[in-house]
Amino acid sequence: MSKERRLPISIKELLAAREPRPNVLVQGWVRTRRDSRDFSFLEINDGSILGNLQVVVAANSKGYSALKEARLGAAVSVYGDLKESLGQGQKWELGASELVIVGQSDSDYPLQKKRHTDEYLREIAHLRPRTNKYGAAFRLRSEAALAIHDFFRAKGFFYVHAPIITGSDAEGAGEMFQVTTLKEFSDPAFKNDFFGHYAALTVSGQLEAELLALALGKVYTFAPAFRAENSNTARHAAEFWMVEPEMAFADLAADMELAESLVKTVAKEVIERRAQDVGLFNQFVEPGLEARLRVLIEADYPKVQYREAIKILTKANKRFEFSPTFGADLATEHEKFLAEEYFLGPVFVYDYPKTLKPFYMRLNDDQETVAAMDLLVPKAGELIGGSQREERLDVLTARLTELGLKADSYWWYLDSRRWGSAPHAGFGLGFERLIMTLTGIANIRDAIPFPRTPKTLAF
Ligand code: 4AD
Ligand code: MG
Repeated sequence: MSKERRLPISIKELLAAREPRPNVLVQGWVRTRRDSRDFSFLEINDGSILGNLQVVVAANSKGYSALKEARLGAAVSVYGDLKESLGQGQKWELGASELVIVGQSDSDYPLQKKRHTDEYLREIAHLRPRTNKYGAAFRLRSEAALAIHDFFRAKGFFYVHAPIITGSDAEGAGEMFQVTTLKEFSDPAFKNDFFGHYAALTVSGQLEAELLALALGKVYTFAPAFRAENSNTARHAAEFWMVEPEMAFADLAADMELAESLVKTVAKEVIERRAQDVGLFNQFVEPGLEARLRVLIEADYPKVQYREAIKILTKANKRFEFSPTFGADLATEHEKFLAEEYFLGPVFVYDYPKTLKPFYMRLNDDQETVAAMDLLVPKAGELIGGSQREERLDVLTARLTELGLKADSYWWYLDSRRWGSAPHAGFGLGFERLIMTLTGIANIRDAIPFPRTPKTLAF
């Protein structure tokens, strides 16, 4: 068989081999190189798995002259035989018969052997997927996304798509990035603008998901969301991905049940399928990660009313920067205390004061709180925010007015409460925060390949 027609085999497959395999082709990037008198050793990685394949090139072999040119980071094709390694540290190695440099690497390759800081790697986000840590993070991210789809499919949810460009603020918080084709923009000029209407990037697909749930029953979106909140924190990104299920004929209890089951199922699946990558995070990023993940998977998540949570915080023997008071949002320090010190694991806080939450949440009988829930977890803080929706047209209209929002611009949403309205509930899970939860990655900028945050957008 001529080598040109040989199909490459992934390093993942080779490292899992049960017996030697002659005549294979491997393609990847040079991670390290070590030369001795008669041999050179290369570690190459092809991204299929955390581990590298050791390649041994004898000084008298055909590829040796090419090998001597191959620098760190170079893309190579190696032909040879997979055999048991006599050296320490690996079961298999590739005895190379030929090596071809597919793409040489300049000598100033920024990822030399030493360990780099996350801050430095963030500045070279275009190259960091080639490091062990970010390779692992992005493989795990892929696994988590697919596990989410598997979860919903198994439960009979339909995957639906809400628009990215929208004319209405789903959260009513005024944090939207405006979309316009006008070079110079003056306010009432929408009629000259592309859509002839106010347009912005969506902050959430929820409102459209509600419309679809009121037709298909159980749906979810999984899409980017955009928020122009100028909060430079380790948990906020201007562009992030959100999973938003929505169920017709469901209440807040069903909503929390779904959220708990989603987190547990996805965590379990990801840990099983990406054990090696999770192991890297456990070793180098968050010692104790595996124990924390066991709690995430096995614990029954406690549920406390917001009112109770405030009492717990007030009674806590702890000095907070912001004193916990009914009617004030839970600060990061409060969320951390609840999940990391008090409940020692995930906890649902529900029935928040209506003044803290968006217009669409269902007003409770006390007229003061809404049927909202947040799932707080150690490390990532608020992982999920959701609610039962206000299905009563009169109450919803009154809420919009109360909040100073124009009922006119939500006419289509209000229509759903006019014709066949039904109790329904849903939530949003921040996908990057899930990745942070599963890996111990402490900064959201490192949980998404190309982060967008205030004053940072390199390309
Ligand atoms: O709590 P939020 O704002 O809720 C909604 O958007 C609802 N429409 C969801 C729904 O009920 N369908 O956002 C939901 C989750 C948060 O809990 C958080 O995990 C994540 O989205 N999130 C962010 N993640 C990263 N960067 C940001 N700026 C985020 N804002 C929210
Ligand atoms: Mg929230």
